[in-house]
Amino acid sequence: MNLTGKTALVTGGTSGIGRQVALTLAAQGASVVIVGRDAAKAAAIMRQQSGIDFLPADLSEMAQVRALARQFAAGHGALHYLIHSAGIHQNDRALTSDGIEYNFAANYLNKFLLTNLLRPLMPPGGRIVAVGSPYVFNPKQFFRFTGIYRDRPPLPFWSLVKSGMAVSVWTAELARCLAGSGLTINTVVPGVVRTDILQHDPWPVQLLDRLLRPFVSLSVEQGSTGPLYLATAPELARTNGRFYKNQRRGNPVPTQVPAGTYNAGLGQQLWSFSEELVGGRGAPHVG
Ligand SMILES: NC(=O)c1ccc[n+]([C@@H]2O[C@H](COP(=O)([O-])OP(=O)(O)OC[C@H]3O[C@@H](n4cnc5c(N)ncnc54)[C@H](OP(=O)(O)O)[C@@H]3O)[C@@H](O)[C@H]2O)c1
Repeated sequence: MNLTGKTALVTGGTSGIGRQVALTLAAQGASVVIVGRDAAKAAAIMRQQSGIDFLPADLSEMAQVRALARQFAAGHGALHYLIHSAGIHQNDRALTSDGIEYNFAANYLNKFLLTNLLRPLMPPGGRIVAVGSPYVFNPKQFFRFTGIYRDRPPLPFWSLVKSGMAVSVWTAELARCLAGSGLTINTVVPGVVRTDILQHDPWPVQLLDRLLRPFVSLSVEQGSTGPLYLATAPELARTNGRFYKNQRRGNPVPTQVPAGTYNAGLGQQLWSFSEELVGGRGAPHVG
């Protein structure tokens, strides 16, 4: 595919799935901006492939997300592919300097804010892609948006689950808002991919991962097919608000999130709560 003239921003482009997505898009001619914290990793990627620039940002800090959006807008006229691949497993109880639970900020809230800030730069046909997590449970039982993230961080793994659920609810709500705009949002769950994502997990998890990896996990190339497909496949030009899961071979296939994961009321509740967390300036919510 020839992507000359297209511009992509890939968060998490310094490592793992996002890195492979960035390399592939740039090899196909796109102008790619990768976002992460590790400048050394970014420099190595830029040496490997032309057409890639780096904008550093800690995406758990909303001021840095805003600065990132400003920097991107100052240097680029249009954004065709916004690919959210940054993510982390933060197992310690931690709050960001904004007072937001760390997983919620690093895995979900930056997606909300960055997308809202960059949407005005996206022309019709622009695609937003989120690399999601499999942690989707029925929020009627488990999800309480307000209060919990800022003031009383929940158990670490539980906060990871909640950040994954938030991405799913946000995907559905944003898709509803984008209907008719010419922009789309879709999310892919990559499967178990051999990346650095478990580097902060407790040692038993890491040991299990190392033992099982050869048998159950996907290569980074296989893990990147999902976001690449959602971003560029011509047949998905009008597909909006869908969830996909990767396969070991071939393109990802559509999947359903469990019933009850989303309803418009819940979507609006998450949107309002997210706006409150980012300071009420998260921008357009239509419909
Ligand atoms: N690998 C899997 O099996 C798997 C399964 C399900 C879902 N996922 C999801 O897939 C996505 C990609 O993960 P991966 O497997 O490719 O992991 P990875 O190799 O650890 O890459 C994670 C990326 O996120 C960036 N990142 C993390 N925290 C950040 C922060 N606070 N600010 C800015 N950038 C940050 C890292 O950049 P720096 O190091 O430069 O900060 C890195 O580029 C994640 O959303 C993850 O949850 C992965």
